[in-house]
Amino acid sequence: MIYLDNAATTWPKPHSVIDAVVKTMEEVGANPGRGGHHMAIEAGRIIYETRDLLAKLFNIKNPSRIVLTKNATEALNIGIQGLLKPGDHVITSSMEHNSVSRPLKHLADSGIEVSKVACNKQGELILENLVKAIRPNTKLIVITHASNVTGTLMPITEVGSIAREHGVYFMVDASQTAGVFPIDVEAMNIDLLAFPGHKSLLGPQGTGGLFIRENIVLKPLLTGGTGGQSELERQPETMPDAFESGTLNTPGFAGLGAGIRFILEEGIDKIREHEARLANILLEGLREIPGITIYGPNDLRKQAAVISINIAGIEAAEFGFVLDNTYGIVARAGLHCAPDAHRVLDTLSAGGTLRFSIGYFNTEDEVKQVIQAVQEIATEISK
Ligand SMILES: Cc1ncc(COP(=O)(O)O)c(C=O)c1O
Repeated sequence: MIYLDNAATTWPKPHSVIDAVVKTMEEVGANPGRGGHHMAIEAGRIIYETRDLLAKLFNIKNPSRIVLTKNATEALNIGIQGLLKPGDHVITSSMEHNSVSRPLKHLADSGIEVSKVACNKQGELILENLVKAIRPNTKLIVITHASNVTGTLMPITEVGSIAREHGVYFMVDASQTAGVFPIDVEAMNIDLLAFPGHKSLLGPQGTGGLFIRENIVLKPLLTGGTGGQSELERQPETMPDAFESGTLNTPGFAGLGAGIRFILEEGIDKIREHEARLANILLEGLREIPGITIYGPNDLRKQAAVISINIAGIEAAEFGFVLDNTYGIVARAGLHCAPDAHRVLDTLSAGGTLRFSIGYFNTEDEVKQVIQAVQEIATEISK
């Protein structure tokens, strides 16, 4: 079996991640921040360490500004819905995942103005168009760091500077980049950073987080027990409790901590280099096959290791089915929860694309087998 659906969630995970989850369940077990007994303190220490590792990875000065969530979607919703009020204007791109575009659509129904800056055919953001879209009431720019359909990298450093210059908050969806590309919230002027723990940060599913810059006031989506300040009738305003109601996924965050340790030990540049090298081999092989359309930049300097294609004469869903059932190759077919991106690529009505997404544990041999399989399928269709 060849797993090439790492953009959805990475697999396999390092053994240290699995060991950390099991160890926490077997030996710690208690509720972090609830009670002063030694097991609760140990659970709290695990959460503290993971927050600290995330802060180190993203150059966040104060780890308590990181809210732990169950995935990137929750983090994006806390930021987007918590910040924007009727009368505000928000700018986004036409390549976003539904976890950005659906909350924005929902807010548009209640008086928030939304502008989607059109991207070009490769999914690239045109900065001039972004600048033109800024209005006096623009409060937020929210964009993905890399498209989950084409891998297209967005110029987040430039967008961060533009946002800062215009006094607009800047939120980044780092779902396809956290753990593979360097992210520095200070150097990039990122005010809100949403990330999943279960993709390239190599943690278990059910983990994610949101960095909220100091002095940004958000209305919490969820209120309830936080372990501390229980005497208050209302939600505490202290961080991260303000946005962490209810019991956290302690085993999951123990695993996430181990995932980040793995990344820091391997080195983020080595991880990116490996993924880019394999993606390049895949692109080179696919380019040689007649009848294939490759979407996106088609250039590893401009994209993450995510490659979307179609073969003339076969629907993406059927293509994915054949790859899985005949060749044991796991790749995702369809719209990838990003219909706007498919409007840009003109693949919405055609049933989307077949997406290969490479992870750190894929090998060159696997990529060569994929090229061979696609070649055989294309030959069969052309007969
Ligand atoms: C660009 C992008 N944003 C957001 C998400 C949502 O991530 P999660 O499933 O962790 O909520 C994904 C997931 O595929 C994604 O690719």
